[in-house]
Amino acid sequence: MKTTTIGIVGFGFMGQVHLKYLSQMKHVKILGICDIDETQFAHAPADMKTYNNPAELIADKDIDVILISSNNDTHRHITEMAANAGKHVLCEKPVALSLEDLDAMTAVCKKNNVSFTVHQQRRFDKDFRTAKAVFESGTLGDMYTVQSALYGFNGNMHDWHVYMDQGGGMLYDWGVHLLDQLLWMIPGKIKSMYADIRNVINTEVDDYFNVMMRFDSGVTATLELGTYFLADKPGWFDRHWFIGGNKGSMHVDGFDPKGAIVRTSELLTNVAGQRTFTVAGPTRSFGDPPLGRILTEALPAVDVNHLMYFDNYFAALNGNDEFLVTIPEVRRVLRLMDAVRESAATMKSIDFE
Ligand SMILES: NC(=O)c1ccc[n+]([C@@H]2O[C@H](COP(=O)([O-])OP(=O)(O)OC[C@H]3O[C@@H](n4cnc5c(N)ncnc54)[C@H](O)[C@@H]3O)[C@@H](O)[C@H]2O)c1
Repeated sequence: MKTTTIGIVGFGFMGQVHLKYLSQMKHVKILGICDIDETQFAHAPADMKTYNNPAELIADKDIDVILISSNNDTHRHITEMAANAGKHVLCEKPVALSLEDLDAMTAVCKKNNVSFTVHQQRRFDKDFRTAKAVFESGTLGDMYTVQSALYGFNGNMHDWHVYMDQGGGMLYDWGVHLLDQLLWMIPGKIKSMYADIRNVINTEVDDYFNVMMRFDSGVTATLELGTYFLADKPGWFDRHWFIGGNKGSMHVDGFDPKGAIVRTSELLTNVAGQRTFTVAGPTRSFGDPPLGRILTEALPAVDVNHLMYFDNYFAALNGNDEFLVTIPEVRRVLRLMDAVRESAATMKSIDFE
């Protein structure tokens, strides 16, 4: 494969991760980095070319791709500069803070005949791919619920993320990944959607949201995220998946997933109610199942990592594959996030598609 040359704009947390990951890849060369904060250059190798002005980095005629990892509100302007200079654009998520910005970015890339895609590398998260593999295997029968949840334990949001016009809140920060996962996994249209968004401890942006989507396939997907789920246990977050179908369930916990597929040896429908005394009191519906009726199976083995995003990216750039993340998919998620805000503001469900 031909060597692809890259310039990185925005050399903070994610720009530095990109340099570390891309330096491990054959056929990739980082020709320069740019940040308006020159103190960030202390995190780069001494021989790296540095720029404090994106226009100067973009002017380097030897660079093929501009990788944008600066604050969310800068993505449109830098995309326009890069595309007008004939560079391919690989932009961090969230690609833009409005549909209007995304459409302008798409148009300028099209006009200059350069490729444009977004770093939605969480399509290669192991927990997600495990849930997706189970979902697609059909082993759970007719699925009625898919639940995805992420809870942070310390309430932390930081820097520009806490401003609406720079970060856009947790919906735009993590929501854009988690909605992208659900929409990439569950086929068909979202018939209706209802959402709640809260500013629990942040004044300007959301730090909690709960989105319920009814797909025309019959699946209801629920996504809940909060940064202020204080917990007195080790670690700083909980990550959960649950899928329910008429032939079994799946639960997955953690980004390095633990869990199982669970079935019954015999359906318990129409079994005469047996009164059981549980800690919840006497019950017939929620008592222990008869011994031996609950069977567990191992989750499928899934071997993915975030570098695979770049494997696809460079293969597609060289004409050997299609970009995994397409702009119509990215646009659908952005449109959904607008609808989430509308639903939360009006307390009404939205007929989405
Ligand atoms: N895909 C992921 O998993 C992931 C993870 C973290 C962040 N991100 C995304 O990466 C982007 C950066 O986030 P971060 O956490 O690295 O933020 P950060 O604050 O750590 O770094 C952003 C850097 O961009 C610089 N910058 C701002 N405006 C600039 C401009 N006009 N030109 C050049 N540099 C500029 C800032 O000085 C800063 O050093 C955001 O869009 C964020 O959503 C993606």
